[in-house]
Amino acid sequence: MCGIVGYIGYRNAYDVIIKGLQRLEYRGYDSAGVVLFDGTQMQLCKTKGKVSDLQAKAAKEMNAVGTIGMGHTRWATHGVPNDVNSHPHYSNSGELAIIHNGIIENYEPLKKELINRGYVFKSDTDTEVLVNLIEDIQKTNQLKLGKAVQIALNQVVGAYAICVFDVKKPNEIIVARLGSPLAIGIGENEYFIASDASPFIEYTNNAIYLEDEEMAIVRLNKSMKIRKIKDDSLVVPYVQELQLNLEQIEKGGYDHFMLKEIHEQPAVIKDTYRGRLLSDKGIIKMAGVEDNLDKFTNAKRIVIVACGTSWHAGLVGEYLIEEFARIPVEVEYASEFRYRNPIINKDDVVIAISQSGETADTLAAIKLAKEKGAFVFGVCNVVGSSISRETHAGAYTHAGPEIGVASTKAFTTQITVLALIAFRLAKVKGTISQSDYLRNLLEMELIPSKIEEALKVDGHVIDIAAIYKDAPNCLYLGRGFNYPVAMEGALKLKEISYIHAEGYPAAEMKHGPIALIDEHMPVVVIAPKQNHYDKVVSNIQEIKARSGKIIAVVTKGDEQVRALADHVIEIPETTEALTPLLSTIPLQLLSYHIAVMRECNVDQPRNLAKSVTVE
Ligand code: G6P
Repeated sequence: MCGIVGYIGYRNAYDVIIKGLQRLEYRGYDSAGVVLFDGTQMQLCKTKGKVSDLQAKAAKEMNAVGTIGMGHTRWATHGVPNDVNSHPHYSNSGELAIIHNGIIENYEPLKKELINRGYVFKSDTDTEVLVNLIEDIQKTNQLKLGKAVQIALNQVVGAYAICVFDVKKPNEIIVARLGSPLAIGIGENEYFIASDASPFIEYTNNAIYLEDEEMAIVRLNKSMKIRKIKDDSLVVPYVQELQLNLEQIEKGGYDHFMLKEIHEQPAVIKDTYRGRLLSDKGIIKMAGVEDNLDKFTNAKRIVIVACGTSWHAGLVGEYLIEEFARIPVEVEYASEFRYRNPIINKDDVVIAISQSGETADTLAAIKLAKEKGAFVFGVCNVVGSSISRETHAGAYTHAGPEIGVASTKAFTTQITVLALIAFRLAKVKGTISQSDYLRNLLEMELIPSKIEEALKVDGHVIDIAAIYKDAPNCLYLGRGFNYPVAMEGALKLKEISYIHAEGYPAAEMKHGPIALIDEHMPVVVIAPKQNHYDKVVSNIQEIKARSGKIIAVVTKGDEQVRALADHVIEIPETTEALTPLLSTIPLQLLSYHIAVMRECNVDQPRNLAKSVTVE
């Protein structure tokens, strides 16, 4: 993972880089570093910790001048997070500096070879191997830096987005990518390089996204040339106009991005269905689905691949598509799918779900499915991301930038897209009654206002959070469409408050988790008044009989569960299929408030990163 920023132009590079790194901290935050060229020499400052720690160290150690530089925020892969392993890394001569997002898988044999040739390594990183490999090639063959980088990259196996700077060529930065994102912002007499566009959005709206296996020499006062790393052929650069704005990537008065993003859900769900859902006319139009309707309707099977929260959305997708469109669906962890030799046929449709569109395992699963001849449809949030480009067709979720590491609005917008697909396919296949179809469409349009209402339980959730904030464990139960929501609720609690939590289908409780229940165990039960209501009520009785503490998410006005549970949180009524869009809201709030009360870093939980571009 990791976030990278580079700048070359006329501004103070340090300021641009630090602000950029802060915006990229969602990609990793266990160490950070910056290198600047002050007109005479390179100045380096790096440290274990966050960008704020880097700032504190730089204020003491560094003269932050210069109009060219590079910075890095790290999520450790090779080597523990410490000052030495932090990026940037110098080559042995001290003439080259590099920042790197990704993994060089064959770094060990390369390192051995370099050691034999007299190179000395200070860090445990694969990145220091790469910068010395470049130096070795450059010096041995008397090559220009760009050529040396190209030859080196043809020798490495793995993934990278890199920036390389040569003190002898202080007006250029060499950049390259394979498997990790890299955007180049184009200003007037200045260039910005970053893992995504957020570091340069206030300076320019024009950006080039490098494709895999492409490299560029970013040089002042010269037009940029992009080349294929493998065969050196020139690529015509495609300059995109960015849609992002500054407001979207700031906290907007909220204490945390996660809270802001929870509260954005009514608005972004509207954005998700805007122009696609015409409920009064009974129409759903999604270009990516319409253009490939025959592929979906003829599919013998749909396989959904995803990771993390997106995988949970995939599970809801399975329930939706099977229930309404009557197409068999399997949901796979992308990391398992890609390595287990799955059976995929030409008439299978694979749906890949990813907020970032950069998750390495999901990307690899897509490539495998394509190799096997399947039609691959992407459900992504980040426009222009690797997954959105790798898939045959797709639908964006339009959730806007999600910065909190714990995914919230991405989840509900993914479910919204999957529901639209399910209803559209059901309509074409004639597997849904007209009244059910119209009811769900009309209800979909009411979801934003119903989420607004669901968000009003915040104060009550704070009270509940205060009671259970010190619980060591927590169980989440749900049935049917709400079983994946239970898993997602447990994941939210785990990732941001470090409380061990498990999500289970409510009826499975008796096959194991029930043994954990005693008077200390909080159990969150999703119990809306729907199909499985009576069964869930029985599960609640079973918990109560064992003195478990019951926090129930119920339909507004419910009395039966209220009489049994220790706490109830009400959500508005909607169709069963759309309940996950509402039942997930109080669970997001509960985990958020518990994490705040436990003084955890909500937006940057330990060990995690938002965009997992390593296996
Ligand atoms: C990381 C994030 C999760 C996310 C998962 C999949 O683990 O912390 O929030 O659900 O990756 O990411 P994707 O971008 O593919 O949805």
